Amino acid sequence: MKMKTKVGKFTALVAAFSLSLALYSCATSFNGSDQVSVARGKAVYHEACAPCHGDNGDGSGPVSVSLRTKPRDFKLGVYKFRSTASGELPTNYDLLRTINSGIYHTAMPSFAQMSIADQYSVVEYIKTLSPAFSDSSQYPLDTVRISTPIPYTLNSIERGREVYLNMHCWSCHGITGEGNGPAAPTVTDDEGHHIQPTNLTHYWDIKMGRSPQKIYLIFSTGLNGTPMPSYAQILTDKQRWDLANYVYSLSHKDRFYDGKQLSNMH
Ligand code: HEC
Ligand code: HEC
Repeated sequence: MKMKTKVGKFTALVAAFSLSLALYSCATSFNGSDQVSVARGKAVYHEACAPCHGDNGDGSGPVSVSLRTKPRDFKLGVYKFRSTASGELPTNYDLLRTINSGIYHTAMPSFAQMSIADQYSVVEYIKTLSPAFSDSSQYPLDTVRISTPIPYTLNSIERGREVYLNMHCWSCHGITGEGNGPAAPTVTDDEGHHIQPTNLTHYWDIKMGRSPQKIYLIFSTGLNGTPMPSYAQILTDKQRWDLANYVYSLSHKDRFYDGKQLSNMH
């Protein structure tokens, strides 16, 4: 649903933040408790996840046939939505957050109704499906630090537009952000399937990047397994917040494009 007012956006941000806090405190307090176990996670998995992700976790459950975006193959240990550096494994909390909120615009549902102990157990179980999680050379994980955001203002959005152009985000996402850049028809994921760069002007198409914070995280970590790269080494912190504000503006009424409202361009 589109947020119409600044107050609406703010309330949504506060709500999202409180959820993160609640989840985080549950996650830490359940960590190591006897209510969380791989055996419990396996039972939960077979009931709730296997229809899509498959009995053995390879993403080929019976429902997957009818899905455009295929369920993740957990045997590969490759995850898109993380707080860790490009190419790294996700943290437990990253996995928990995906399971709790689901992934918009795909079949991946939210399991917020499930007890946190069961969500945490299923995290522990899916980690057993890939050898990567027990490979000590993968640790410690390098978590991207999210600094204090730069306020969402016209000046910041305009600076972000410059970064968007200089970083060639447009080669995939298009000059207007509509997912129609020159490289868009030919980009593929790691398995060789065509993958559509997101239309950043369609709020409803966006899987995770629905707040400046989440957008900041996406291009700071990159989406493993997809051509969407990480820009952590290239951009300063200020540039990243300006870019996050610009990308956020594209999917909202503001829709800035070269300082003009994108909606006036059509
Ligand atoms: C109705 C189908 C469906 C069900 C049921 C389902 N998933 Fe998914 N899941 C998906 C799809 C589709 C994706 C891929 C989304 C994408 O790549 O953008 C996905 C992706 C994921 C990811 C990867 C996120 C990332 O960062 O790459 C995790 C973790 C996940 N699912 C966990 C689970 C767990 C745990 C369960 C059961 C509690 C579950 N899923 C149930 C369809 C499903
Ligand atoms: C080589 C092509 C390519 C380039 C360059 C690229 N992206 Fe992407 N980007 C993608 C693809 C493909 C996806 C879709 C991933 C998916 O749907 O799982 C994506 C997804 C995203 C998302 C996630 C949207 C969501 O669904 O949550 C954001 C935000 C984003 N890109 C921003 C950027 C920004 C900002 C830049 C430049 C700094 C950039 N991208 C550069 C290919 C690219």
